[in-house]
Amino acid sequence: MWGGRAGALPRVWGLWPPGVLGRRPLRCSAASLAGSSSPQCWNCGGPGGPIREDGFFCPQCRALQPPDPTRDHFSLMDCKRSFNVDTAKLQHRYQQLQRLVHPDFFGQRSQTEKDFSEKHSTLVNDAYKTLLAPLSRGLYLLKLHGVEIPEGTDYKMDNQFLMEIMDINEKLAEAQSEAAINEFESIVRAKQEELTDNLSRAFEQDDFEKAKEILTKMRYFSNIEEKIKLKMIPL
Ligand SMILES: *[C@@H]1O[C@H](CO)[C@@H](O)[C@H](O)[C@H]1NC(C)=O
Ligand SMILES: [Zn+2]
Repeated sequence: MWGGRAGALPRVWGLWPPGVLGRRPLRCSAASLAGSSSPQCWNCGGPGGPIREDGFFCPQCRALQPPDPTRDHFSLMDCKRSFNVDTAKLQHRYQQLQRLVHPDFFGQRSQTEKDFSEKHSTLVNDAYKTLLAPLSRGLYLLKLHGVEIPEGTDYKMDNQFLMEIMDINEKLAEAQSEAAINEFESIVRAKQEELTDNLSRAFEQDDFEKAKEILTKMRYFSNIEEKIKLKMIPL
């Protein structure tokens, strides 16, 4: 049942504007939100009261509440704000949240709740996808620490690295056989794994300059991965 329903998700993907996450103190899990005050219910006007089920529903009338725009992805996904996330737990939390907020479950509810459920669902998708892949997770974590890497801007990379990338790109462009392309894929995958390990260490040491450098490298390799995928399609 779950797999079928998930098919409708890409439609709502991207509706939520970026940059809505506010500055908030470090929190490890959703449970720590329990003490925060929630706004009045839009439906019954009841007080927020003790937050249950992550504050998605009014404890009095059970109406779905709007998303909290100040809540970051780590808090939403009930993860410690750290580069090392447990992807099995992340997956479990994703399914748990979609069972609460997915638009398919709001067909018989008011338009307001339908709209909120679309927003929640998009937000949950966004948080899940962002935290699942090491590159996007690293970029997001860096952003929470106030460091951004603008797309397309050349962060001063050392010449040796740029030569390495040029070399791979040239050889990849010439590669014809499936075996040759597969070899590139495994080389690039090994690089990404090594960079991911290095990135994890950089975050553990709060070395954000190092993290920025490593993420820039990962972005180069990620572009190569995209090219490899395109080359594989016609084979
Ligand atoms: C990972 O870190 C080690 C130790 O600093 C370094 O020697 C290695 O080149 C790094 N790997 C990559 C792919 O940059
Ligand atoms: Zn209510």
